[in-house]
Amino acid sequence: MTDIDQLMEVMESAFDPYWRESWSRTQVEGSLALPHTHAIMCDAELAPLTSGSEAAGFVLARRAPGEEELLLVAVRPEQRGKGIGRHLLDLFIESARANGADNVFLEMRENNPAESLYRAAGFAPIGRRVAYYRTASGEPLDAITFGRKL
Ligand SMILES: CC(C)(COP(=O)(O)OP(=O)(O)OC[C@H]1O[C@@H](n2cnc3c(N)ncnc32)[C@H](O)[C@@H]1OP(=O)(O)O)[C@@H](O)C(=O)NCCC(=O)NCCS
Repeated sequence: MTDIDQLMEVMESAFDPYWRESWSRTQVEGSLALPHTHAIMCDAELAPLTSGSEAAGFVLARRAPGEEELLLVAVRPEQRGKGIGRHLLDLFIESARANGADNVFLEMRENNPAESLYRAAGFAPIGRRVAYYRTASGEPLDAITFGRKL
């Protein structure tokens, strides 16, 4: 299994299609083909993936000069609540810092329970895009931008 196969397995298990947040394989491959986008994955023991280990979660992130954006974070449903999401956010922040970022950002739909995880990792709301998302049933949802200085 390639890393993209592993990432897509987590993606497909992690996101409820109702919120329309998950990315297709084509979107992931297209994004990772760009030099400034990268994925961080770990197994259920918080170790980096090796051949033969199974991904429990991933982060997809994009670098720009002086900043880094968290595009997606996901953990397999059966592995949640064990600190894997927090570990992946910490790895994202470490990687951003190592690449010279002064600020990190992310955007989430309003009411995503991941908000408590983001706040615990030091992110605070800095903006709102009204009706930026639309659920599978057509309900509009705002996007909230969170930021953290490094
Ligand atoms: C968000 C997500 C990655 C968190 O992964 P996780 O491994 O369960 O996270 P952690 O175990 O590190 O949890 C950290 C904290 O976040 C909170 N939290 C995270 N996800 C939560 C959820 N779905 N419901 C309730 N609380 C949640 C918990 O309060 C937890 O705090 P605690 O340890 O003090 O109880 C996971 O729930 C997920 O994959 N969700 C679906 C995809 C998604 O919505 N991603 C975010 C938008 S891109």
